[in-house]
Amino acid sequence: MQNNVLILDFGSQYTQLIARRVRELNIYCEIFPFNKIPEDLSSFKAVILSGSPSSVRSDAAPIPDLKNIRGHLPVLAVCYGAQYLAHSFGGEVNASNTREYGRAKLSYVSEDCPLFQNIAVGSQVWMSHSDSIIRLPEGAKHIAATHDVKYAAFQMPGELTFGIQFHPEVYHSTDGALLLENFLIRIAKLSQDWTPDSFVEMTVADLQAQIGSDRVVLGLSGGVDSTVAAVLLHKAIGKNLYCIFVNNGLLRKNEFEKVLDQYKHMGLNVKGVDATDQFYKALADKEDPEQKRKAIGKTFIEVFDQEAHAIQDVSWLAQGTIYPDVIESVSVNGPSVTIKSHHNVGGLPDFMKLKVVEPLRMLFKDEVRRVGRSLDIADSLLGRHPFPGPGLAIRILGDVTAEKVRLLQEVDDIFVEGLKTWGLYDDVWQAGVILLPVHSVGVMGDERTYEKVVALRAVSSTDGMTADWVHLPYEFLMKVSNDIINKVKGVNRVVYDISSKPPSTIEWE
Ligand code: XMP
Repeated sequence: MQNNVLILDFGSQYTQLIARRVRELNIYCEIFPFNKIPEDLSSFKAVILSGSPSSVRSDAAPIPDLKNIRGHLPVLAVCYGAQYLAHSFGGEVNASNTREYGRAKLSYVSEDCPLFQNIAVGSQVWMSHSDSIIRLPEGAKHIAATHDVKYAAFQMPGELTFGIQFHPEVYHSTDGALLLENFLIRIAKLSQDWTPDSFVEMTVADLQAQIGSDRVVLGLSGGVDSTVAAVLLHKAIGKNLYCIFVNNGLLRKNEFEKVLDQYKHMGLNVKGVDATDQFYKALADKEDPEQKRKAIGKTFIEVFDQEAHAIQDVSWLAQGTIYPDVIESVSVNGPSVTIKSHHNVGGLPDFMKLKVVEPLRMLFKDEVRRVGRSLDIADSLLGRHPFPGPGLAIRILGDVTAEKVRLLQEVDDIFVEGLKTWGLYDDVWQAGVILLPVHSVGVMGDERTYEKVVALRAVSSTDGMTADWVHLPYEFLMKVSNDIINKVKGVNRVVYDISSKPPSTIEWE
């Protein structure tokens, strides 16, 4: 890919955000760890250095080798990146007593610097650092300040290399997008040709060249990623794409039939496989969340493997993997702990001996949706809330039975359809209901009841990594609670989950 931006990651929580902001400008970019700079830089026209939780003064500071970059390509160094430049090339960085975190206003801006074109004194920027640059490298030009941070931005002498102490990628930097635009378009002369339409055109041609007349198998889940991957492949190779949509008996009410029908209408060559009994059997008497996940993952692979082998001469496996799953992360605090196993149940083992094709592997989630729109996929499919691979099994706390699934499907349907009717569905990132393993006493008419309790969960989020509970209107919650208790036999109490992630998680198991 020509016209590409190289983002070097030093372990900042904001690195992916930088990449998304660049892509929002319709400019392609890729993230690499700071110590794995590609040898061939010919496709890159600009470089951005990310921030980092490390201090340049510590022994473990991440040190990049910029010899092929500085002076050859325009560089924008953000936060740690800027401190690294100052510290390593003759300036000075000191620890300050307090961490500077939050909003600040620019108090000085160099008028003739193209990086700050159309950005005025008073513009708000977002700071998040504890070290401070106290002296610039010899000859560096001071180009911006805030009240508290003198060297908020500088330019290295004789180079298109800029250091900025604040974070332009964070929304609170009100002119952050403009600063990135100044750097990428005015200074680095990149063109804005990374659009969903151009992606589709290029990817279809690549897929045709890569796959030729081979046959490809793909597992559809009803989710956005696998659907967009399928439509893209279908456009490239038509009937040689064989899709398999497995009913694990843990989907939402009527979901299997509805979505299968939609897929067929879209012209996809899809086979629906009802393996409900096989999944229920594998889950029987399993109460531990991890054991449940593993049983579901294993059964899925068995079913999929059998179906894939029934297709003659298939040689490729297509997957809806997206960029956040691919980016090699820079570990700053040692390997991360597994909180829940295999979030992506669709991941299939090597023993299938198929070559793997992943047409979405360079896209962020919001880009997958934009590509889906450019492929004319219905909004009802593209706008769907995320749904976990193990489905309702991880929302039925404890063991799973067919009867519990049916009951939860009814309750979940009332909640989700209610969100749609009240125009709340699109304001919520993900919603669902959890069936609790407790009974509560109630009274219906003159009768004492002793029945099940369900918890409603609705969260806002951008990527599922963090989430907050949604402040749904009381009137809506009242209506849904009444409907559930009146219509679903066996439930006599509804509660609403008001926990954020962290410290909770979105799913209860
Ligand atoms: P948690 O519960 O970890 O969930 O806050 C974050 C997001 O991941 C989804 N999720 C899963 N998806 N297999 C999946 O495919 C899983 O085992 C799994 N567990 C959680 C969850 O629905 C939310 O969107």
